[in-house]
Amino acid sequence: MVIINVNGVSTSVPEGFTVMQAAAEAGFKIPSLCSHPDLKVKDNCKVCVVDINGELKTACAELVVPGMVVKTHTPQVIAAKQDNLKKILSVHPQDCLNCARNTNCELQTLAENLIIRSFENIPHLFPKDYSTPSLVRDMSKCTLCGRCVEVCNDIQTVGALEIKDGIVQTVGGVPLAETKCVVCGQCSLACPVGAIIENEEIDKFLAAVADPEKVVITQIAPAVRVAVAEALGMPTGSLEMLKFVAGLKQLGFDYVFHTNFTADLTILEEGNELLQRLTTGGTLPMITSCSPGWINFIETFYPDQLDHLSSCKSPQQMFGALAKTYWAEKMGVDPSKVYSVSIMPCTAKKFEAARPEMNSSGYQDVDLVLTVRELGKLFNMEKLDFSQLASADFDSLLGAYTGAAVIFGASGGVMEAALRTVYEVVVKEPLEDVNFTMVRGFEGMKEAEVDLAGTKVKVAVANSLGNARKIMDEIKAGTSPYHFIEVMCCPGGCIGGGGQPIPSTIEKRKERIDAIYAEDAGLPIRKSHENPEVNLLYEDFLHEPLGHKSHELLHTHYHPQKQ
Ligand code: SF4
Ligand code: SF4
Ligand code: SF4
Ligand code: FES
Repeated sequence: MVIINVNGVSTSVPEGFTVMQAAAEAGFKIPSLCSHPDLKVKDNCKVCVVDINGELKTACAELVVPGMVVKTHTPQVIAAKQDNLKKILSVHPQDCLNCARNTNCELQTLAENLIIRSFENIPHLFPKDYSTPSLVRDMSKCTLCGRCVEVCNDIQTVGALEIKDGIVQTVGGVPLAETKCVVCGQCSLACPVGAIIENEEIDKFLAAVADPEKVVITQIAPAVRVAVAEALGMPTGSLEMLKFVAGLKQLGFDYVFHTNFTADLTILEEGNELLQRLTTGGTLPMITSCSPGWINFIETFYPDQLDHLSSCKSPQQMFGALAKTYWAEKMGVDPSKVYSVSIMPCTAKKFEAARPEMNSSGYQDVDLVLTVRELGKLFNMEKLDFSQLASADFDSLLGAYTGAAVIFGASGGVMEAALRTVYEVVVKEPLEDVNFTMVRGFEGMKEAEVDLAGTKVKVAVANSLGNARKIMDEIKAGTSPYHFIEVMCCPGGCIGGGGQPIPSTIEKRKERIDAIYAEDAGLPIRKSHENPEVNLLYEDFLHEPLGHKSHELLHTHYHPQKQ
């Protein structure tokens, strides 16, 4: 341990701590902008300046040394911080009221905390980039912190962004859609300001609910409920499910369903596809296909390996196809009047819903995707008091779900849900313990071996595209030992999706994972094949997994992208 003195307080911290971390331990939070708890030290904003042994230095970059004396708020320190922040603000257009990060912006908060008020009228230097359906880049607001570049290059290994000629640019200087970007939105989570944000489409939702002709329905993804509470200033996972449904009805949704329903359905289709491949010599390893950022990645970087993907559409798209066929038919609703909104943790889902092939219902299967951040804004707009709202239940036919579906939101969840079902289908005995804990947790790669009636099945779970790349390189080299692999684009799985509330640090993601498994543990049914509404769907409409109707509505083909 190293003992230092911070503002007169003797503080003992582990060796290797930065002055910023040590000061936090002593109870002094040092303002920062380029620093992020999960990323490398950038040391470029200089907003975290402190006095160390009589010299002004940056607290995020200096490591503690025994006997160090740190002062965090002398008049000289405050003046230096203000000067450094003013330099950043001198080229930053202050259109906060017109900015998606208004009230949740690190720069805005810093300007307020350091009491900087006199702003010039600063022009936008760069046009906004609206080239993808998922994200909008507004480089006039970039503070050059470099966080997005690290996330895109080092964590996701996509390499769509670079720092060149003193600015953050796309590689090649082209619109984002023309780069290899997979629209995962991880850069939008890392960005301290409104320079990369989701493509906000709240207006489209408001127009749909105002149209008396439209039947507005929604599906909410497994990772949404645990995180939306954060966007409302509540503890992670604290918003009760049935109050949440009541809130969605107050927003104007006519019917509220759950993507969990089609998560369970995915397990029936994908589990049977795996068994078919295992028994008929199909392409192995089979890889899950529910993460659209991952699909964009494999289509872009491994176009010759697409036959490893399960042909199952994602649960979002399965829901979209069924809502305008099965549900509309059962309810006697004209499918052309159904406006299908999904609420997702993910920016890539906006891209997925807009794919031209996602129209197997005869209409665009999903009309609009809102992220958790957009939903949080809608709830805030209505100022709903969840403690006062009466509970409301999900609507039937597409609303029932099991614990297996809930865990889709966490890395390893799809694998665990599949194992719960595949085991019982193959072994034909009840699974004593449904908890496959070896595939749980935040680690980037996990593996396990499962005995299915004498056949040893090797499975792996990868989350983040950097880990997916390692898995794919092994497959390409012909050295992969696995039969079945789950890949999630975002670190931690969908709970860390690019549309989730900001901040979305590793610490926050772990809290969301805990909330997901707590919900699963408390549910009466925890295996997808026991979902009563899924079984009814097969009886009344699909008839059997992998049958003709399933292939028509629930499965898809993949195409090389950006070659
Ligand atoms: S990025 Fe922050 S400071 Fe800049 S306009 Fe948006 S809210 Fe305001
Ligand atoms: S969305 Fe993902 S792939 Fe695209 S620039 Fe951002 S981090 Fe890179
Ligand atoms: S776009 Fe955002 S994250 Fe990237 S360098 Fe600029 S301010 Fe930082
Ligand atoms: S936070 Fe230390 S230099 Fe930016």
